[in-house]
Amino acid sequence: MRVLVVGSGGREHAICWGIAKSNKVKKIYCAPGNAGISEFAENVEIPADNINKLLEFALKEKIDFTIVGPEQPLSLGIVDLFRDNKLLIFGPSKFASQLESSKEFSKLFMERNNIPTASFKSFTSYDEAKAYLNESNLPIVIKADGLASGKGVKVCMEMEEANSFLKEIMLDKIFSKSGEKVVIESFLEGEEASFFVFSDGEKILCLDSSQDHKRLLDDDKGPNTGGMGAYSPAPIIDEETKEKILNEIINPVFEAFKKENFEYTGILYVGLMINNKKPSVVEFNCRFGDPETQPLLFRIESDIFDLFYQTALKQIDQYQLIWKRKTAISVVLASLGYPMNPETGGEIKELESFKNTDDEFVFHAGTKFLDNKVVISGGRVLNITALGHDLEDAINKVYDSINKVELKNFHYRNDIGKKGLVKKTK
Ligand code: AMP
Ligand code: GLY
Repeated sequence: MRVLVVGSGGREHAICWGIAKSNKVKKIYCAPGNAGISEFAENVEIPADNINKLLEFALKEKIDFTIVGPEQPLSLGIVDLFRDNKLLIFGPSKFASQLESSKEFSKLFMERNNIPTASFKSFTSYDEAKAYLNESNLPIVIKADGLASGKGVKVCMEMEEANSFLKEIMLDKIFSKSGEKVVIESFLEGEEASFFVFSDGEKILCLDSSQDHKRLLDDDKGPNTGGMGAYSPAPIIDEETKEKILNEIINPVFEAFKKENFEYTGILYVGLMINNKKPSVVEFNCRFGDPETQPLLFRIESDIFDLFYQTALKQIDQYQLIWKRKTAISVVLASLGYPMNPETGGEIKELESFKNTDDEFVFHAGTKFLDNKVVISGGRVLNITALGHDLEDAINKVYDSINKVELKNFHYRNDIGKKGLVKKTK
């Protein structure tokens, strides 16, 4: 089978690595890909959001199956476009992708279906938003309605900070159209975790739990990022909490999809806040998480290509998902200056110091080839990934690998997974 993977991050490297192991896959293309991906796929110089060019390519190259990584092409309607052209593709439709591309759409869906989430109000008028904000309690969360590359949300501890973010979104229009509407919502206490559900439109398959680390610095300090490291499974989602997630969130969400004739195909990423074992939804995304995909796929024993393929064929029940009974962890090496002003262009000389085996792997994100050298081309650069027989072992392995190498040009967190360890020993 000829497969096209759309995207260029660590998530897409993990997908290409995973599907390349399947004997069903003969050839992989990745658009636009990165330096690491080129080991498994032929990179194609088409940006992930140029959906017309991607269609042209898929038709010309007789692509049998397309897997979409990031949210932009989904929100632009790549799935509808490919399906209209009789191409098999993995992901939700443009309509369904609004669960991620419009915070208001997603909050209204949760509100009318009684899905536990923070209370909210949305605004198109700056004056009305400002008046509401100034009567609200702190902390308060302000969100641009549309996609903003992870920068459109601020958890505000001070009213001054909230007012100035509101002004930046609505008057200075820093997110242009994505900020025409603003959602103001109450603050949820607790610890975040990620839960991914594959859906073929009728039936669902839940993956094991995982946990991202969104803040830049150790101990969850500093600004929000795309994610600085993740591990799976996450002890915060114990059996009791998982039952609640299924009964109070996942099952009601998919029943509501049926009731509303809302066809959802692909992956639903449920961003959770867990407070004393009580889960509520922080956000929905319509795709795999990055970096959560890296440890999740690293733990899958069964055919990773088939997981995507059987879902797209609407026969998810034919797939037998087998997990390695191990813990996987992925630590992000980010370029200096990330997330504000990442430094790019430097050669990554450290690559040969890391191993690529079944137990350890370096997934690339912002890397590219320049004059036969691998150079930094983005904020998050490498995902050092390791598999251990438990979380402690996985943490030790990943940091042993990292600490062996002198990493002067990178910033990374030293505490990925530690939250899970504390929980386990309690
Ligand atoms: P979102 O893009 O909606 O997931 O928001 C980005 C990040 O902001 C989340 O991962 C949380 O860390 C934080 N966040 C968003 N909404 C809330 C909320 N209501 N309460 C607390 N933190 C939140
Ligand atoms: N891990 C955060 C995200 O994928 O949005």
